[in-house]
Amino acid sequence: MTNNIFYPHKEIFKHPEFKNMCEYEDKVKEFEKDYEGTWAKLAKEKLTWFKDFDKTLDESNAPFYKWFVNGKINVSYQCIDRHLETKKNQAAIIWEGDNGEKKVYTYLDLYKETNKFANLLKSFGVTKGDRVVLYMPMIPEATFAMLACARIGAIHSVVFGGFSAEALKDRILDAKAKIVITADGAFRKGKPYMLKPVVDKALEGVECVEKVIVVERNNEDIKWNERDVSYNELIQSQSSKCEAEIMDSEDPLFLLYTSGSTGKPKGVQHSTAGYILWAQLTMEWVFDLKPNDTYWCTADIGWITGHTYIVYGPLAAGGTTLMFEGVLTYPDSGRAWKMIEEHRVNQFYTAPTAIRLLHKMGANEPKKYDLSSLRILGTVGEPIDPPAWKWYYEEVGQNRCSIVDTWWQTETGGHMITPLPSATPIKPGCATFPLPGIFAEIIDENGNKMESDEKGLLCITKPWPSMIRTIWGDSERFVNSYFGTAKKDGKPVYFSGDGAIYDEDGYIWITGRVDDVINVSGHRMGTAEIEASIQKHPDVAEVAVVGKPDEITGEAIFAYIVLKNSENLGEEVELIKALNNIVKRDIGNIAKISDVVFVPGLPKTRSGKVMRRILRAIAKGEEIKQDTSTLEDPSVVEAIINAVK
Ligand code: PRX
Repeated sequence: MTNNIFYPHKEIFKHPEFKNMCEYEDKVKEFEKDYEGTWAKLAKEKLTWFKDFDKTLDESNAPFYKWFVNGKINVSYQCIDRHLETKKNQAAIIWEGDNGEKKVYTYLDLYKETNKFANLLKSFGVTKGDRVVLYMPMIPEATFAMLACARIGAIHSVVFGGFSAEALKDRILDAKAKIVITADGAFRKGKPYMLKPVVDKALEGVECVEKVIVVERNNEDIKWNERDVSYNELIQSQSSKCEAEIMDSEDPLFLLYTSGSTGKPKGVQHSTAGYILWAQLTMEWVFDLKPNDTYWCTADIGWITGHTYIVYGPLAAGGTTLMFEGVLTYPDSGRAWKMIEEHRVNQFYTAPTAIRLLHKMGANEPKKYDLSSLRILGTVGEPIDPPAWKWYYEEVGQNRCSIVDTWWQTETGGHMITPLPSATPIKPGCATFPLPGIFAEIIDENGNKMESDEKGLLCITKPWPSMIRTIWGDSERFVNSYFGTAKKDGKPVYFSGDGAIYDEDGYIWITGRVDDVINVSGHRMGTAEIEASIQKHPDVAEVAVVGKPDEITGEAIFAYIVLKNSENLGEEVELIKALNNIVKRDIGNIAKISDVVFVPGLPKTRSGKVMRRILRAIAKGEEIKQDTSTLEDPSVVEAIINAVK
């Protein structure tokens, strides 16, 4: 924790609502005084309703909250139609491909393309409530597809293109998807990589999917199966008019699968009205998005950051969103800065892993470009370490831009704890304070608020509009995963899974997950998922996976493995390769094991629970301070330490 404070540059920011901390505090107080009334006012002011809501918040079945009850609305209408009068010719999406190819879609173009896609989906019988899985590269058609689903009330589930066929299959089956939308392939670092063959493999034996819509980019030949159809052929004849479906505030907008500490990934279900309200508001509050701004978020649409801050937030707020298919360091480490210069980007939003990599590969690169258009720099997904923060602030932001370190999650739908660029005095590496309307508290297991400098559990004590509604098909798991016994005003509090600390000024510092979830390059993975995969190898008796700090990726996967027969140790290299292949098959390339250590046993309590804290400490190279006498076999700790050496 550092106490260096960076004050906002008032000459750069003219935020209409939050010019200073007093205005921030006034807004917080407004919510404290009249929680529902303040949300209702914002919902009426910011959204275009087909029918007004009758009640702002229904808490009668907590934690299954309902927001803006009986309101009627459509998210694609919010993102497109209502802007047409004033922004028809404004760029809605600027796309840049891996090879530098550029395309611009105005709001009118976006309207037409979305409607055509919506009509195509309708022609296959897709209706309100049907699930549509997207396995897509970062191309504009992915955005059209998401908005087309929203237009007709279908629920999309975007699966990140780096997931394997097995992982894709699990998600398709869990959601019982009717349609899969994909592309023949994508381009990365100048080379094509195929997506369609992964879909083919995932769909073997899957009956619920009726059609696979394939966007053809002609990057290589693909196999056409009976249920496959070509987007390029069919889209031509679709009408560019499609009435937006009247949706209820609480109708599901999308599912997004994310990892938890146990079991298979969970289908986080988001709602319509509450989600889009917060997506738009946070764009305005945190990124100070102005009508002529060009905003660039480098996430992939397969993650929540891509959903809220490439597609829904910027478009609902009527901005111009830059979408990039390539890699920030290709063809060289100046690519990102060249794009900022060329597109005159005003807000740049990326992950600490990317910042660390860009720093390492080209510390002086930003200087070579004109980055004077930048006003706000954002980070998301993992804690940012002070050296990376400093480089971002000084070299990229040229000591002028505010850095917004945004803490949030797939489940929260949008930002929760973050500085406001024109108001909050910033401490490097600190997410600072909750946004107005968000009631965050660091508590102990009994629900008592922590004193400063004591680590506790980060919780949200009041429901908020863009919160997760349930886990698709498993409401019991929803309650058990997020709501413990702690209550506030008689209602269960939302438990984030992160630890946090208040400093003496009341700033909130996120300390990372307190459950068995690890964060590799900002990608969230359950250790249980990786363990279940490794366990499938016939030579593996037991396995425990933990996160190990990594200079670039934040955390790396560290696996402790007990073999059935330790004589196999001679074949280590082959075995490690085989284990990595299994994980790659089950999850995808993002789950690469960085360290494998074969150990004689795992540290277990007498009741058989693996003491992960000890394993985490060993992976970090820390001295073991915990009492090991309660272990079933304390000598195992020494043996593990020796194996790691
Ligand atoms: O541990 C926190 C970390 O990322 C987790 C959420 O991951 P996911 O649902 O994949 O969403 C990532 C994008 C919002 C959190 O539980 N995290 C996210 N933002 C930050 C962070 N940790 C520290 N600082 C952040 N700004």
